[in-house]
Amino acid sequence: MPVTLTWTGHATWLIDTGAGVLLIDPFFDECPTASMKAGDVVCDAILVTHGHFDHVADLAAIAKRTGAKVFCNWEIGQWLGGQGVASVQPMNLGGTAPVPGGTAKMELAWHSSSLPDGTYAGNPCGWLLDVGGKRIYVAGDTALFSDMERIGRPRDGRGLDVVILPIGDLFTMGPDDAREAVRLLKPRLALPSHYGTWPPIEQDAEAWARGVATDGVATAKVLMPGDTITL
Ligand code: NI
Ligand code: MN
Repeated sequence: MPVTLTWTGHATWLIDTGAGVLLIDPFFDECPTASMKAGDVVCDAILVTHGHFDHVADLAAIAKRTGAKVFCNWEIGQWLGGQGVASVQPMNLGGTAPVPGGTAKMELAWHSSSLPDGTYAGNPCGWLLDVGGKRIYVAGDTALFSDMERIGRPRDGRGLDVVILPIGDLFTMGPDDAREAVRLLKPRLALPSHYGTWPPIEQDAEAWARGVATDGVATAKVLMPGDTITL
């Protein structure tokens, strides 16, 4: 089974590992660019990078409707428990857990994190996935940081197949730093995320992809909300 990635808009992704669908940072019904509604999402596990509204807005509702296990840090797990979400795998930075199709490691991210009601949400994170025979790094909301070189370092002779990077600027790294991130991570394919949702994070993603191509490290591909790529 090939692994597929679907961008539904903003920073929300569906990754079908062949053994189940992972949903990253559910933000649908109040997302101006979302390609689908929260009520139509089918998934087997949900991975959360941090507590900001544009990453958790539909989290509790989808978790309760689908019964999908939520992988998140301890603090967000406690918050979900208070909303009646029963199936949670609390983790923290550096930890790895089994997910459908492989494993998910909670990686570093430089950002902030609080929940929509003001609850402390612990540290933000990225996700390093080993699923369906592919290595996929989802950076989450973050600035550029030099540990990306470590995250991209080959293990067992295998580097990263795909990286999903924010390029929107203002609240995360912008296009130039995202290009540098690609140079550090050295993936085969780079996909832009967290841009174009609202005017303050509008970006020319095609220009960014051309810049990545100029650097000669990876191929970059621009998706439209609702697009799926097969690895
Ligand atoms: Ni954020
Ligand atoms: Mn965000």
